[in-house]
Amino acid sequence: MDLLDRLRLDVPVGQAGMGGGLAGPELAAAVAEAGALGTLGLAPAHELRRSISRVRESAPGRAVVVNLLTPFLRRSQVSVCVEEGVDAAVVAFGGERSLVEELCAAGVFVFVMVGTEEQARRAVDWGADALIAQGGEAGGHLSGTTEALEFLPRAIAAADGRPVLLAGGIATGADTRAALAAGADGVIAGTRFLLTHESRAHPEYQRRVLAADRTFRTMLFGLGWPAPHRVIPNAATERWCHSDGTAKAVPRVIGGGSAFLAKLPATTAALRMQSPRLPLFTPIAPTVGMPASAVDRTACYAGESALRMTSVTSARDAVLELSPGGH
Ligand SMILES: Cc1cc2nc3c(=O)[nH]c(=O)nc-3n(C[C@H](O)[C@H](O)[C@H](O)COP(=O)(O)O)c2cc1C
Repeated sequence: MDLLDRLRLDVPVGQAGMGGGLAGPELAAAVAEAGALGTLGLAPAHELRRSISRVRESAPGRAVVVNLLTPFLRRSQVSVCVEEGVDAAVVAFGGERSLVEELCAAGVFVFVMVGTEEQARRAVDWGADALIAQGGEAGGHLSGTTEALEFLPRAIAAADGRPVLLAGGIATGADTRAALAAGADGVIAGTRFLLTHESRAHPEYQRRVLAADRTFRTMLFGLGWPAPHRVIPNAATERWCHSDGTAKAVPRVIGGGSAFLAKLPATTAALRMQSPRLPLFTPIAPTVGMPASAVDRTACYAGESALRMTSVTSARDAVLELSPGGH
């Protein structure tokens, strides 16, 4: 299958759908207009419906794609994708056969993001159209621990002929060329698109990511979703993480039993409650509209790729930079 034809792309480059308000219609549309795969992050159903329309208006003829962050996914959001006839969906951090089958039956092209061979085999068994192989150096939440280029051949073998996109560590056109040379059908970048004018990341968050000299894997921001994620240091991690990134006992124990909170509505009260002094950290990331001080009490997700980035650019320039012909 030619993925570029199927999803009407000019380049084998995609933008990760980053939830929590980070990747909205401005970003997805700008990426799609530039000929790459723009993806909406998961949002409340009514907002998702509006965002899908906005991408269609701004990038006519391009594919509309929605990220389905399954720990937070509600029935109404799946219904919006089906009713609006989105071109593709990315099932991430979980999923199940019935979800994949329902989307496929509605004509939606289904990617499943995976980080282990077992997850890859299961996704194929569910009927996924394509896989996104995520490496352990990726930003945000992590599906596995193996580095992207090491995991890729195993994901390709499990995909059994289906297309495989590589996520994690993609900062330049050279990274894209290396992924394609290793057998990927394309790449997905998150951090590169977080650092664009069209993302809704708080400018102070973007500045901190550019200034960071390390990223690390932790479970600190696990209230409601106790799963590993990659962040840059901030006041909260300095206070509550050991030097290797593992959360100290108190936040670890509180986060560990909190998965039931994921389906409760996110409230600004949750953010107000967060303070570097209290070990109660949700997966919320700092977005435009929050006070700049939020960067010290929320999750500043970023991948290892951040350490090779020097500026916030337009989404169009990010697509050009990541294209196989880019630097
Ligand atoms: C800020 C941020 C938020 C993310 N949010 C999501 C998400 O909501 N859903 C998802 O499937 N992946 C999410 N990811 C992970 C990406 O899908 C992707 O695997 C990762 O960004 C690749 O690594 P990179 O950041 O080095 O490009 C997020 C990544 C970042 C950096």
